Amino acid sequence: MTTPSLLILPGDGIGPEVMAEVRKVIDWFGAKRDLTFDVSEDLVGGCAYDKHGTPLHDDTMAKAQEVDAVLLGAVGGPQYDSLDFSVKPERGLLRLRKEMDLFANLRPAQCFDALADFSSLKKDVVAGLDIMIVRELTSGIYFGEPRGIIEEGNERVGINTQRYTESEIDRVARNAFELAMKRNKKLCSMEKANVMESGVLWREVVTEVGKDYPEVELSHMYADAGAMQLCRWPKQFDVIVTDNLFGDLLSDAAAMLTGSLGMLPSASLGAPMANGRPKAMYEPVHGSAPDIAGQGKANPIACVLSFAMALRYSFDQGAEATRLEKAIETVLADGYRTADLLGEEGKDPVSTSQMGDAIIAALDASL
Ligand code: NAI
Ligand code: MG
Repeated sequence: MTTPSLLILPGDGIGPEVMAEVRKVIDWFGAKRDLTFDVSEDLVGGCAYDKHGTPLHDDTMAKAQEVDAVLLGAVGGPQYDSLDFSVKPERGLLRLRKEMDLFANLRPAQCFDALADFSSLKKDVVAGLDIMIVRELTSGIYFGEPRGIIEEGNERVGINTQRYTESEIDRVARNAFELAMKRNKKLCSMEKANVMESGVLWREVVTEVGKDYPEVELSHMYADAGAMQLCRWPKQFDVIVTDNLFGDLLSDAAAMLTGSLGMLPSASLGAPMANGRPKAMYEPVHGSAPDIAGQGKANPIACVLSFAMALRYSFDQGAEATRLEKAIETVLADGYRTADLLGEEGKDPVSTSQMGDAIIAALDASL
């Protein structure tokens, strides 16, 4: 078996700081679990612009197309705000997503018991929560034509078009069913088939794809009812699949059920490669946090959890992913908190590297 390959793109701001902690975790799996990766590292975002005059060099793009998975930190910063739109740090990220055709965005909402008090919902509603929202990322109303602002009579009209082809629905549905198979074999599809034709087609195609996954319990829900149910009793769900617009809203809302931006991982998956694995990029939801960059304050957990997702979804190492997630649960239960997890009058936060070291110690203790 060939060694799985991983391209690391730390990026800007706190990106390199949190990625340094992920490197410790990767090294640990190599040393203690005989799980080694062919790791390469490159530039993306503002740092790539500084060196090459572009936020993503063609060589980096080509490398990203070849590897088994990309792990990205964050891009951007105020020093790049005045750059032309075409070379802004974010363009590097968008080019990766577009050229790798990453059409399925996975956003888990996971609540660690030690942080259940952090939620705006009652503790028993969120404690132990572990759901996954799959959002279609490359089509739908953000991309459909016609679009624009036109003159009609004596007023202006703003237009966006929700448009989904059968194949676009089919591929994201398949992705969600595959995930459901790796989790608890339960999938809920959300649209508004009651008022939108694209929703009618969505429901039909998802139902059709479901015939290839008879073990998965499939349900359908109107997205507005889904939003209510997510707030009322989120634990009724396991995997949710939905379109770009509804997914944007539902995944942000679901993520906040569980607390801090510093805790949220994500994955973006594309079509299967020759080896059967999906093209994949893993990254924390947060940005480059210029307000705390360079101070050792950043919470590395979102980035470490993104690597855990890579273990599970790109490298078929579900048990090791669980080991890593349990190690994080342990350090939180033991009271380790970076500043973002302490609130207003929070005392004695640990630093980014202390949090990383605590995770390594918990991994050691798991053996
Ligand atoms: P942000 O996510 O960078 O920061 C928002 C707030 O959350 C800040 O107060 C920050 O200190 C805090 N925060 C974020 N991550 C944290 C962590 N791991 N630990 C502790 N605290 C954390 O979003 P913001 O401030 O809107 O954007 C800053 C820069 O990042 C901008 O240039 C923006 O364009 C870029 N950005 C990049 C993203 C990406 O690379 N995927 C996503 C969002 C923003
Ligand atoms: Mg959003």
